Amino acid sequence: MDYIAEGTSFIRPFSAGIDLVDGEMTDFTRKTERRASSMRGHYADAAALERLVADGDPLHYEVFEKPVPEEYGHLMYCVSKLLSGLVGDEYFMTKGHYHSVLRTGEIYLCLRGDGFMLMKTKDGKFAAEPMKRGGMVYVPPYWAHRSVNTGSEPLVSFCVYNAEAGHNYGDIETEGFARRVLRSGGVPVIR
Ligand code: F6R
Ligand code: ZN
Repeated sequence: MDYIAEGTSFIRPFSAGIDLVDGEMTDFTRKTERRASSMRGHYADAAALERLVADGDPLHYEVFEKPVPEEYGHLMYCVSKLLSGLVGDEYFMTKGHYHSVLRTGEIYLCLRGDGFMLMKTKDGKFAAEPMKRGGMVYVPPYWAHRSVNTGSEPLVSFCVYNAEAGHNYGDIETEGFARRVLRSGGVPVIR
């Protein structure tokens, strides 16, 4: 088939199932789990995180995937399920990352829950967009992104991004985000 572009694999079309109540991909072939112990260095209150680790090391989030080739032209997609909870006064959040190929963006469609998408650039720009059922967040190229669950139920999103994007977690481990989402007076505050 000479119309197939070099560097982009030909695959058969397929479909995937999403359980909108549980917020999980029903026929995933890869699942990534992040527990409290995977989140060291990310929360402001390190002692509170260690208490959680000692107290059963609870799950923070899961990412369900049925991966496609990590190549230009393909679209990677997943279901991200971030549980509700606090580490000290800070709401449960994802590690956050830049895409390794910085010029790739991402779309998040929120299926369930309440929270924020925090975003930042290398040169210090910061943005926060609300996440709630039926809301879409566009993460442009160059913006690192981290989701935060400020609600009492799981924050579930369907994500789509360039399959060749890759994930750079190391820069966020050293840079962090300029702002955090904290519970203050019983409500979420970004500061
Ligand atoms: C993929 C993407 C999401 C996250 C997921 C977990 O590019 O942005 O699917 O991977 O929400 O967050 P991280 O990857 O930051 O641990
Ligand atoms: Zn991403």
